[in-house]
Amino acid sequence: MTAKKSGGLAGVTAGKTALCTVGKEGAGLTYRGYDIYDLADNASFEEVAYLLLYGKLPTRAELDKYIAKLKKLRSLPDELKQVLEMIPADAHPMDVQRTGVSFLGNLEPEGDFSHQQDTADRLLACLPSMLLYWHRFHTDGTRIDTATDDDSVSGHFLHMLHDKPPSELHRKCLDTTLILYAEHEFNASTFAGRVITGTLSDMHSAVTGAIGALRGPLHGGANEAAMELIQRFSTPAEAAEGVLGMLERKDLIMGFGHRVYTTSDPRNSVNKKMSKMLAEEKGDLTLYEISEAVEKVMWDEKKLFANADFFAASVYHFMGIPTYLFTPIFVCSRITGWAAHIMEQRSDNKLIRPAADYVGPGLQKFIAIDER
Ligand code: COA
Repeated sequence: MTAKKSGGLAGVTAGKTALCTVGKEGAGLTYRGYDIYDLADNASFEEVAYLLLYGKLPTRAELDKYIAKLKKLRSLPDELKQVLEMIPADAHPMDVQRTGVSFLGNLEPEGDFSHQQDTADRLLACLPSMLLYWHRFHTDGTRIDTATDDDSVSGHFLHMLHDKPPSELHRKCLDTTLILYAEHEFNASTFAGRVITGTLSDMHSAVTGAIGALRGPLHGGANEAAMELIQRFSTPAEAAEGVLGMLERKDLIMGFGHRVYTTSDPRNSVNKKMSKMLAEEKGDLTLYEISEAVEKVMWDEKKLFANADFFAASVYHFMGIPTYLFTPIFVCSRITGWAAHIMEQRSDNKLIRPAADYVGPGLQKFIAIDER
């Protein structure tokens, strides 16, 4: 395979997974064989997390036990709270999560990996805690108790953010986006995590690296960039004209396009429906209609479709979530996919070390420093 053909490793099969299919004929997106639409309509995020991390859908008793376990793991060690307080208020929250996970790896090192499921559950339970502890400390000076009594990750997140339990509609919508974001095969951050795992490194290191990869606007950061885009416009007509101008200037429109999907992203229709529902609840459809106008121009002009990030942006916005917390929500969900891939990589490990086509100069004669 030459470098040209495999630019960005597009189309290259880089390993095996039993976790997920993306864009396979007849099934847009599946987790361990379950269609994403079935999961989004009928399961909770905790059921999906269990499916990914433990290999099967839980029974009612197993789910109850799992929820109780996650609730117990929400508290943060004092040393981590001190570190979170020291991170500047204007830091990007993705950097907060990256540092938080890395620091937790010092306090609770994984050791010999024999408790890897517990490490995964701990990260799943406490990623929202570290994010919102930092956020609340720096926005309203409150040292929140992260051990709330909410049963779900979505309820826990919104409760800590708004200082009160959320409405069932908002909780359910956040829960659904967590299901949609949970897993996506060998995407950039997951692959980064698998590369780190392939060296037999620990889960905290792999997740820290994965957060770094997800941070970029070509990957998870697109949901924040999409929000900034739609907020620039005050009417659908203005949005259509603005995006046409951007396309003429060859600007990238964030929240559109995908490396694997070619005609649509199956997660988009679910997010779009929720975005409309929440706009109606608010009694103001402007932002939703602006989003639709952008979507139409992108399809008409470029045959590019909205990906999972585009309508997720307005879903979060309508729930009163600040834009800079959008990509960190992705982390709170994707930790399930990352950890499942880390465990899968370990179960049949091989160091990941590809080759490169050399394009540099031929063999050169070395000239001593004072003679150059
Ligand atoms: N806006 C405008 N043009 C886009 C575009 C977008 N969002 N996405 C792709 N294109 C164009 C490219 O400019 C390129 O045009 P060209 O052939 O004239 O050069 C063509 O479509 C192919 O895109 P390419 O960048 O080669 O595809 P890729 O597989 O490398 O990239 C993404 C995939 C996701 C990185 C890319 O679509 C993108 O940057 N999207 C915006 C960021 C985003 O939403 N990321 C979240 C992904 S879930």
